[in-house]
Amino acid sequence: MSIYGDYIKSVIRTVPDWPQPGVNFRDITPLLQNSSAFRKLIDSFVHRYQDLELDAIAAIDARGFIVGAPLAYELGCSFVPVRKKGKLPFKTISETYTLEYGEAEVELHSDAFREGDRILVVDDLIATGGTMLAAAKLITRSGGHVVETSTIVDLPDLGGADRIREAGFNVFAVCS
Ligand code: PRP
Ligand code: HPA
Repeated sequence: MSIYGDYIKSVIRTVPDWPQPGVNFRDITPLLQNSSAFRKLIDSFVHRYQDLELDAIAAIDARGFIVGAPLAYELGCSFVPVRKKGKLPFKTISETYTLEYGEAEVELHSDAFREGDRILVVDDLIATGGTMLAAAKLITRSGGHVVETSTIVDLPDLGGADRIREAGFNVFAVCS
């Protein structure tokens, strides 16, 4: 958890029974609407990563882009989108992962990284960890070195962060 973790958590809204009954959806839009909270959020990531000599921020479609772009700008490194299937126009590599019902796929441009590039993967939330883990595996396959996987919110009851760590990747969450 970061220095601002408790504060960031306090400006995330829980929407009960969305998108389906029984789900408590953690909604980051109040955090994004609050300019001071959004600045503290980005500062939390900058503080953690500013001395790690990252080459690129790989951000996951779509809400990962919200964090990834300002972070890449602040750290002075590249921004690379990891996109849902069928969105990237050039040559891609892809990784399939399991959802509660069915499968999903994330894609990366084949020329996104150079061998050994130091990459931070970012997203807004880790639930089962499937999306983050697929992105980290994809980046590793493409020759990048995943320094850490990083998120605004981790939902620990779902075990996603543990799953990602068991696969050999570091995980950081601003709040849980
Ligand atoms: C949400 C969230 C993460 C993922 C987390 O994205 O933004 O990417 O699910 O779930 P997991 O840990 O179980 O994989 P979603 O697929 O809803 O896409 P969006 O960002 O386009 O809304
Ligand atoms: N909030 C946002 N995205 C999500 C959630 C949530 O609670 N669960 C799975 N993806």
